Amino acid sequence: MTLLEDLLAEHRLLPVLTVAGSDNGCHLGRALLAGGLPLTEVTLRVDGALDALEAMAALDDLVVGAGTVVTAEQVDRVVDAGAAFVVSPGLGTAVVDRCRQHGIPVLPGVATASDLLRAVEAGIDAVKLFPADLLGGPAAVKAFAGPFPAMRFVPTGGVRPTNVSAYLSHPAVLAVGGSWLAPPELVDAGRWEDITRRTAAAVRQLDDDSERRA
Ligand code: 3PG
Repeated sequence: MTLLEDLLAEHRLLPVLTVAGSDNGCHLGRALLAGGLPLTEVTLRVDGALDALEAMAALDDLVVGAGTVVTAEQVDRVVDAGAAFVVSPGLGTAVVDRCRQHGIPVLPGVATASDLLRAVEAGIDAVKLFPADLLGGPAAVKAFAGPFPAMRFVPTGGVRPTNVSAYLSHPAVLAVGGSWLAPPELVDAGRWEDITRRTAAAVRQLDDDSERRA
């Protein structure tokens, strides 16, 4: 497994953030760390996202990737800002090739068997399954994992506390991603303690799940 796959498999949760500015980035990064989660993705969906990413990437112990990366030029910008990995909603050769040039791990999005075939052809062994809920939820993972047994998935889109465990119980799922741990309304309101509480609750839920399985 790559370093990114190892991190995903270890922490199993990838908060997808919409956050602007370095102050908010720092608060949010610390809130996630306080909740026990040292891994996150900052999406390029708002002005100021790169500032947030840069500030978060400078925090000790936090591994910060960039999300919603859809062009090669954005790959250059997030690498400059200190991103440790790149997530894309789809599978595009421009993004994947530029990530490889920079030597930065990339998690491209797939939504069909044809996307998965292209991922295999491109030598990719872990993908974001997006939008997972609309594709059928945990049943979609099972369906796609059948013909692609070596592929590892990070379902994202519609992941909530009620379906996290079902996704993660499939052996092909490395981690789940989503905005529920730090939704934009909590971030915009500066409700950092609520975000820490949600994060800690999710981490606890996963610990309980693994104890039950042991
Ligand atoms: C993403 O870009 O990964 C999704 O917007 C996250 O989906 P969610 O908001 O349903 O968690």
